[in-house]
Amino acid sequence: MSDTTLEIKDLSVEVEGRQILHDINFTVKTGETHVLFGPNGSGKTTLLMTIMGSPKYKVTRGSIMLKGKDIVNLPMDERARMGIGMSMQRPPVVRGVKTRDMVTACARGRETEEELNSKK
Ligand SMILES: Nc1ncnc2c1ncn2[C@@H]1O[C@H](COP(=O)(O)OP(=O)(O)OP(=O)(O)O)[C@@H](O)[C@H]1O
Ligand SMILES: [Mg+2]
Repeated sequence: MSDTTLEIKDLSVEVEGRQILHDINFTVKTGETHVLFGPNGSGKTTLLMTIMGSPKYKVTRGSIMLKGKDIVNLPMDERARMGIGMSMQRPPVVRGVKTRDMVTACARGRETEEELNSKK
């Protein structure tokens, strides 16, 4: 499927020796927006941290395909270069750094300043 941007298959994940995610299947196609709902502690953040590649989150089964490539063994910076980013629920306040500037920095190389400004 060439239009599939992110395809997660049978994904199981352990954190500090405890299995948190069990056989997750989840696909995001180009242009789609998804919202994850679920009770506290159900694994939403775990799924996102795993997609981002935080080393604490160990994939024990399954694959995470991005644009046709399995990214499970890629370090976080390579995933970021491929277009994966994560913003925190409660981002730390850093005086002088606007959220907009951070988004611009993250999107550098993928979206031009003009494209970002057009979404204001
Ligand atoms: N770093 C960690 N070490 C140990 N256990 C963890 C860690 N992170 C998450 N867990 C456990 O994994 C489970 C899923 O937590 P997670 O934070 O992914 O849920 P969530 O759906 O994002 O919850 P919330 O709605 O509160 O944000 C919980 O049982 C939590 O205690
Ligand atoms: Mg969470």
